[in-house]
Amino acid sequence: MKSLRVGLCGVGNVGRAVLKTLISSSKLIEVQGGVHFDIELVGARRGKKAVPFNGINVTKDLKEVATNPNVDVLVEVIGGVDFAHELVITAIKEGKHIVTANKALIANHGNELFKLAKENKVEIGFEASVAGGTPVIKALREGLVANRVKWFAGILNGTSNYVLTEMESNQSSFEVALGKAQALGLAESDPTMDINGTDAAQKASILAALAFHVPFDFSLVSFEGIEEVELEDLKYARELGYSIKHIARGELENNIACVSAYPTLVNNESLLSQVDKEMNALEIFSEGVGSTVYYGPGAGPEPTASAVIADLVDIAKGGWELDINSDSSNKLQVSGAQKAARYYRLQVKDEPGVIAKISSVFGEKDISIDALIQHEARSKEDIDSVPVVIISGEITDNEAVKLKNILEDLPEVFPGVKKFRIHSSRS
Ligand code: HSE
Repeated sequence: MKSLRVGLCGVGNVGRAVLKTLISSSKLIEVQGGVHFDIELVGARRGKKAVPFNGINVTKDLKEVATNPNVDVLVEVIGGVDFAHELVITAIKEGKHIVTANKALIANHGNELFKLAKENKVEIGFEASVAGGTPVIKALREGLVANRVKWFAGILNGTSNYVLTEMESNQSSFEVALGKAQALGLAESDPTMDINGTDAAQKASILAALAFHVPFDFSLVSFEGIEEVELEDLKYARELGYSIKHIARGELENNIACVSAYPTLVNNESLLSQVDKEMNALEIFSEGVGSTVYYGPGAGPEPTASAVIADLVDIAKGGWELDINSDSSNKLQVSGAQKAARYYRLQVKDEPGVIAKISSVFGEKDISIDALIQHEARSKEDIDSVPVVIISGEITDNEAVKLKNILEDLPEVFPGVKKFRIHSSRS
């Protein structure tokens, strides 16, 4: 049986779950994975008291794990970027394989790390960095290896998905829904990167590197978070047959890959629209096999530990080298030219001719109006102004922004026009 000596840095919730699973499931992993693991050394800044398991060597100096000659693979679950980067570089130069759950590390330093790993003939496993316990990286690099990926679209941030689900099902405000996610321990105490879209965008840039063979370049991912989504939007979306989800998307057309993460209307017939609460899902459309969908927990100690250990087993069995730029005539570009239908919600003056004027803007720009909702004013607040919701035909991001600006400049339209993409699952 193959064996591997593990050094682990970071004993927060994830690190402890990795240790617990390695210990309690060692027989199962041997039977199912054919690998025996020895936990050689654990790096915990607070020392032994942070490691609730007997018989494990612990050091407060995390660098010692990266340089220990008895360690074959370093598991990095400390999070953060700068120190993790330093630690991983040290370990690679010492000839150690790496397993990390750190999406920010891979999204920001992936090119450098994989180049260095290749030079030092070691592997980097990062399954846990995207969609937690749901094996989407394995799907891309193994299961779909015979297929050219055309696009992927996924719900990759559990916190945002929980907040949107809570708003939709309980009519909670954004603040109340986020507070509930925090109380349940789903959101970080500082959930900024979840809510503003950074987390999902980093994950999407990692998937794009695998799917389209482009370098990791988080700076070329365009994204927004879910802060702009209001209960009104969820209500109108439902009326039109959609849910609103935070969708990370990558697509390849004419060798140009574009990656983005935006709140997006998703047709209720799509599987992605059924993904609720903190769950993650990824749909990958490839030439050949067509559409495949992966669903599961995207965060949490046990799911993350599950992905970390799957990587450890892979590495013990010979690993998998990521040669980011090989083969590729594909280029990553800021999203802009790709087309999508759009949802606009406008608050307009309730007076004759307003709808005609708005329609003429669409007509002049040669943009089709695919649906339009304006309900009869029913409440006092609606006496002077009413909401109008329009679904446009397919237009680019740039056209969508220009259209929003023109609409907002009309004297009959109040500032604060809402605009969201509509997901297309065309091949
Ligand atoms: N904070 C992330 C989420 C999980 O809410 O999905 C870790 O990537």
